[in-house]
Amino acid sequence: MNLSGNTVLITGGATGIGLGLAAAFLRHGSKVIICGRREHKLREAQAKHPELTIRVCDVGNERDRVALYEWAVAQFPDLNVLVNNAGIQREIDFSALAEEAAEPDAEPMGGAQDAVQAAATARPAGAWQTAEQEIRINLEAPIHLTALFIPHLIRQPQAAILNVTSGLAFTPMARMPVYCATKAALHSFTLSLRHQLRHTAVKVIEVIPPMVDTELDQGARARRGQTYRGIPVDEFIQGILPGLAQGLPEVAYGTAERARTMSRAEMDEAFRRMNG
Ligand SMILES: NC(=O)c1ccc[n+]([C@@H]2O[C@H](COP(=O)([O-])OP(=O)(O)OC[C@H]3O[C@@H](n4cnc5c(N)ncnc54)[C@H](OP(=O)(O)O)[C@@H]3O)[C@@H](O)[C@H]2O)c1
Repeated sequence: MNLSGNTVLITGGATGIGLGLAAAFLRHGSKVIICGRREHKLREAQAKHPELTIRVCDVGNERDRVALYEWAVAQFPDLNVLVNNAGIQREIDFSALAEEAAEPDAEPMGGAQDAVQAAATARPAGAWQTAEQEIRINLEAPIHLTALFIPHLIRQPQAAILNVTSGLAFTPMARMPVYCATKAALHSFTLSLRHQLRHTAVKVIEVIPPMVDTELDQGARARRGQTYRGIPVDEFIQGILPGLAQGLPEVAYGTAERARTMSRAEMDEAFRRMNG
C-alpha cells in the first residue's frame, strides 16, 4: 500500500504498536486519527505528534463504535484506512474452575494481588467477564467497525483495512486461551474478508506482531517473573514497513514470521515448547 496521502484511523493508537504505526504514517505524509479509552494517553501521544487527531472511544462498546464511525466520516470524508489495532490480553485458567468445583472453600494462596487475580479468573463469572471483554475488544470490535466502514471505504479510490493479529493466532500460549482464540478468529476473518473484497479497491492486510515491548498485559508478564519484554516497537515497525509498502497481504516480523509459515507438525512442536 501507499503509505503517504492517506487518512488513517487507528484504534488503540495512543500507545505501543498503534502509536508506532501512527508515527510511521505521519512520517510518510498521511493524516492520522487515533482513538482509545484513556484521554490522558491520547493527549500524551498528541504532545509527541501534534498533527494527530485524537478521539476518546471504547471500541468494546457498540454505541461508541457507531459514534466513532459517524464522527470520523463526517469530519474526514477522505478517510481511507482503518487499522483495527486496539486489544487487551488476559490470563484465564479454566483448570482453576475445575479445582474450585472440587474444593469450593479453597482460598487463593499468596498476597493481595494474587487474590485479586484469582477472583478475576478463578470463579466462573469472573472468568467469563474477563473472556467476554477480550472477545468484545479483540474480535467483535474489528468485525463491527469493518461492517460500519466498508460502505465508506469502498467509495474511496484506494482504501485498506489493517487487522492487527499476533503470532499467537497460529500457535496459542495456553495461559491466555481467549486472547489467542480472538487472534486466530481475527486471522480467519481477515482471510475471508480479503477474498470477499478482492474485486474492490479495499486492500485487506494482516499485521502479525511477535512479542513487542508495549503496555500489553505487562502486569501479568511481571507477575510471572518474565524478564524478556519483547522487541522494541520501533524495530517491529521498521520490520514491517517494507512489506506494507510492497502491498503484501500479511506482514509479520521475527518469530511471528516463522509462526505464520509453520507446518502443522512445526506448530505442534512450537506449542509443546511454548507451553512446557
Ligand atoms: N505487544 C505484543 O507483544 C503484541 C504481540 C502480538 C499482537 N499484539 C497486538 O497489538 C495490538 C496493540 O497492542 P500493543 O502491544 O501495542 O499494546 P498496548 O500498548 O497496550 O496498546 C493497546 C492499545 O489499545 C487500546 N485499547 C484497549 N482497549 C480498548 C478499547 N476498548 N477501546 C479503545 N482502545 C482500546 C489501549 O488504550 P486504552 O487502554 O486507553 O483504551 C492501548 O492504547 C493489540 O491488538 C495486541 O493484541 C501485541
